[in-house]
Amino acid sequence: MSKEWRNRWRHRHWQPGPEQNRYNGLEPIVCITGGSDGIGLALAHEFVAEGRALLLVARDPSRLELAAREITRRKPGALILTHYIDLLNPENRRVLEAHAASLGYYIDVLVNSAGSGLSGPFISHSTHNIRDLIELNITGVTDLCRRLLPGMVARGRGGILNVSSMAGLVPGPHQAAYYASKAYMNSLGAALANEVSGKGVRITTLAPGAVDTQFHERMEAEGSRYLRFLGVQSPDVVAKAGYAGFQRWQRFVVPGLVHKINAFALHLLPNCITVPMMAFLLQRPTIQPHLDKDKTAR
Ligand SMILES: NC(=O)c1ccc[n+]([C@@H]2O[C@H](COP(=O)([O-])OP(=O)(O)OC[C@H]3O[C@@H](n4cnc5c(N)ncnc54)[C@H](OP(=O)(O)O)[C@@H]3O)[C@@H](O)[C@H]2O)c1
Repeated sequence: MSKEWRNRWRHRHWQPGPEQNRYNGLEPIVCITGGSDGIGLALAHEFVAEGRALLLVARDPSRLELAAREITRRKPGALILTHYIDLLNPENRRVLEAHAASLGYYIDVLVNSAGSGLSGPFISHSTHNIRDLIELNITGVTDLCRRLLPGMVARGRGGILNVSSMAGLVPGPHQAAYYASKAYMNSLGAALANEVSGKGVRITTLAPGAVDTQFHERMEAEGSRYLRFLGVQSPDVVAKAGYAGFQRWQRFVVPGLVHKINAFALHLLPNCITVPMMAFLLQRPTIQPHLDKDKTAR
């Protein structure tokens, strides 16, 4: 299909409307939550290489500034804005679009990469920590999609790249809430991609296996068997695959051939095989006896 026909097909249900005018005078920007570290930062490098302006969102100002400096060192002249907010706070999510507009931008692409995990038996985690995980991985992602998608549909361009996980393909004993949150994210992304199909907007779910970032350490999962037995991919490799998939309007991206085969196998195998297997891989070598610890991967 030629480029023009492909474009027509992608906009087959899109109608220009008055809503579009709300964004007159604003420039497009790519907003990356969790853009200060790990996969989010690697994705920032990919988008900036294409010449996109970036709005990086995370909590720690010094890490964000460091990330912005690193990006501009590799791509001099890049336009990088930083926004220090805690996405656990619904008010911060509510005003994100208005904040971008006050700087002269509309959020053309949203990358949901900020996420947290919890490792260890479900009953060892405080209800507070489980609530925070759900707030960031499920409620926050849903909220941002709901707030930003209408503008994308009105403009007939842009889209959302959700950084989910292969964890969403199977229940995960010893990381139960995290795995369940990623199953939600996979499902949401697939459904939204269908709903906006033909309206000029793309939704890509990126589902990597284990990636070499601080994420595992932050949830105290460093000693878990999955890191030794399944291996880790570099954030750069994962980001390249995710970015390429987003550019190709792919709906679901699993980076790496081995992980693609694993993902296929997880779809085929019944839970009676995969769940005990995951329990073996995710169990930490020493189970801490204390309850209610205040540690999440953040
Ligand atoms: N690492 C893996 O093995 C792996 C595999 C598959 C999927 N994933 C998914 O990939 C995503 C990114 O993971 P990663 O490995 O890149 O993690 P990471 O290195 O720990 O980075 C997490 C990023 O999210 C930000 N963040 C965390 N909590 C936040 C909050 N409440 N508000 C705003 N920003 C927040 C962090 O910055 P601040 O702490 O400064 O806020 C940081 O920039 C997550 O959704 C994770 O589930 C990771």
